[in-house]
Amino acid sequence: MGKIIIKTAEQIEGIRKSSRLAAKTLDFAEQFVKPGVSTEFIDDKVEEFILKNNAVPAPKGYHGFPKASCISPNDVICHGIPSENTILQDGDIINIDITTILDGYYGDTSRMFTVGKISPAAEKLIDTTFHCLNLGIEQVKPGNRFGNIGFVINRYAKAKGFSVVYEFCGHGVGIEFHEEPQVDHASRKNTGAVMKPGMIFTIEPMINQGKSKADIDKNDGWTARTTDNKLSAQFEHTILVTETGYEVLTDIHEDYEIT
Ligand code: MF3
Ligand code: CO
Ligand code: CO
Repeated sequence: MGKIIIKTAEQIEGIRKSSRLAAKTLDFAEQFVKPGVSTEFIDDKVEEFILKNNAVPAPKGYHGFPKASCISPNDVICHGIPSENTILQDGDIINIDITTILDGYYGDTSRMFTVGKISPAAEKLIDTTFHCLNLGIEQVKPGNRFGNIGFVINRYAKAKGFSVVYEFCGHGVGIEFHEEPQVDHASRKNTGAVMKPGMIFTIEPMINQGKSKADIDKNDGWTARTTDNKLSAQFEHTILVTETGYEVLTDIHEDYEIT
């Protein structure tokens, strides 16, 4: 096992700036989410926005990933590759996942967007997943153990009749894209490493309507889908452990103009 980095004040400020840009990029992307638009078009706009803000999209070239963002519709759990052939349709739910590198620092966040009118079942899945992330965030404070994040997320998702994806996890982030620790979204109470001020990591639960298992597309090597083709949803924030609790670094602040 590696070591969980405790970030310095200077590193925290850099990661905060990058995280806020990633969040603003999601705000910017929202205007393009409508029927008839390809996910590649959204990705192009996202890349332009990030570059214009003197940052770089971390996914591009990461282990060969070809695009600036991950865009994952409907039964895609995560790592959807933006494509000219993926055209948004009325009733779709999509996750857009943005990771920026600004002055060398990483910020990572994703949220769900809806296309036209979605079904009540899809809405319940999205609401539940959003609540799962927030329950996880509430567990962040010095002295608490990482396992309690996955414990509360899994308990709530199960109570709502959904399943937690266990093949992809949250992760330390900031100096690198993926650092220690691995943040599980289904875990046992009071297990795992102890949180300390200055740690920065993501919580990014992926919640499925049906079976929890993920299937990686054999052709592109990236796209993770549900095995039963039922819906999957995800929200992600980058979180700092403070002296008393947490700071959501990827929350929205007014430091960037959306243009
Ligand atoms: N942003 C994703 C995460 O939350 C990782 C994407 S890896 C990529 O960890 F290569 F697909 F971009
Ligand atoms: Co992440
Ligand atoms: Co992400």
